[in-house]
Amino acid sequence: MRVVIENSAEAVSQFVADRIAQWVRHHPSCVLGLATGSTPLGTYRELIRLHREGSLDFSAVTTFNLDEYVGLSPSHDQSYQYFMQDNLFQHVNLSAESTHVPDGLATDLASHCLQYEEAIRDAGGIDLQLLGIGTDGHIAFNEPGSSLGSRTRLKSLTHETIRDNARFFENESKVPRLAITMGVGTIMEARQCLLLATGENKAEAIQATIEGPVTAQITASALQYHPNTIVVVDEAAGSRLQRKDYYREVELAQLEWEKSNTP
Ligand code: F6R
Repeated sequence: MRVVIENSAEAVSQFVADRIAQWVRHHPSCVLGLATGSTPLGTYRELIRLHREGSLDFSAVTTFNLDEYVGLSPSHDQSYQYFMQDNLFQHVNLSAESTHVPDGLATDLASHCLQYEEAIRDAGGIDLQLLGIGTDGHIAFNEPGSSLGSRTRLKSLTHETIRDNARFFENESKVPRLAITMGVGTIMEARQCLLLATGENKAEAIQATIEGPVTAQITASALQYHPNTIVVVDEAAGSRLQRKDYYREVELAQLEWEKSNTP
């Protein structure tokens, strides 16, 4: 895992947006895996800015979102489909057919999950997967105890996640209890993963993800087995890391190396 510790949440967004922009410029028909939640909002704002200034073209890009609440229609303002329209899709030139968010209203949820996996495969797999992390260490909605080989499926949310996400709803009782989520196994097949975290409330989960054992109790820790993952955190989210100095040294060396190998 490459661990990048930035000074601020803004710098995290900038780093991640730069990586995505580089991918899209070098591989215009790439497949992006996208996340919702508060953490990627700054990244999406930066991507929109780059698109508006004319330096980023999404016309050939395909996207797949990680998850969706069961029972919310795309027009519900807390559905992830709505979130993506509001915070990214409608502001850039992604074509409607190229964006995919699981359908929380699918009548046959099991076959919808299989079709979602098939659609990812048919698109050639995910090149770059953006991930946030829950305070319980989840990636997508792979709650503690999820199989590290899991595929897209239905998942019950934990009390911790329901409580964390209640801030977006009228009250806790309105938070859906079920979600469709890509599995850990699905995520692990992405060619590169970018896990981002900001704020003190993510510090424990980040420490466990990077420096703890690989365990289904912290599903993000499976990324230790991923050959190409960058974890990007701000100072607060990285505050519990034991080997901070080492990660900083490695990052400086990495940046030096990139500079001397850029034509
Ligand atoms: C969202 C998702 C979740 C969030 C995580 C962090 O699509 O998959 O895993 O990334 O719950 O959410 P925020 O960023 O709101 O703290």
